[in-house]
Amino acid sequence: MKEEKIVVSHLRDQPWNENKDQGKFRWKFMADSTQIKSHGLSCGVLVLPPGESLPLHYHSPQEIYIIRRGEGLLLSSLNTRKVCKDSFVYIPQNFEHGLKNTGEEDLELLWIFPTDCWEEVEYVFKKQ
Ligand code: NI
Repeated sequence: MKEEKIVVSHLRDQPWNENKDQGKFRWKFMADSTQIKSHGLSCGVLVLPPGESLPLHYHSPQEIYIIRRGEGLLLSSLNTRKVCKDSFVYIPQNFEHGLKNTGEEDLELLWIFPTDCWEEVEYVFKKQ
């Protein structure tokens, strides 16, 4: 096993990523093995502008969302719930979920996966 050490990183030091085909949101990889020497857990930041959505999808790892600012709806095939700053959301394995910004400011959240990096999470999007 590689030698491990504590890594401190700052939001301002990581670049924004975006993919216009997926929607008008942007994200940063924070604790992620593609950026730092880490494994087993990964975390990043996603920003959804007002009116934008992260479409319904599922993946095999569990996921946690922690809402940092803004407000919106946590979408699922069963029900939708309101979320806002300081909401914590636990999503079980293979459960469909999505998020819509219903507020007037950006909706910003942390995601956490039990994986080395975001890249290894296989997203399956619900057919529209
Ligand atoms: Ni997800």
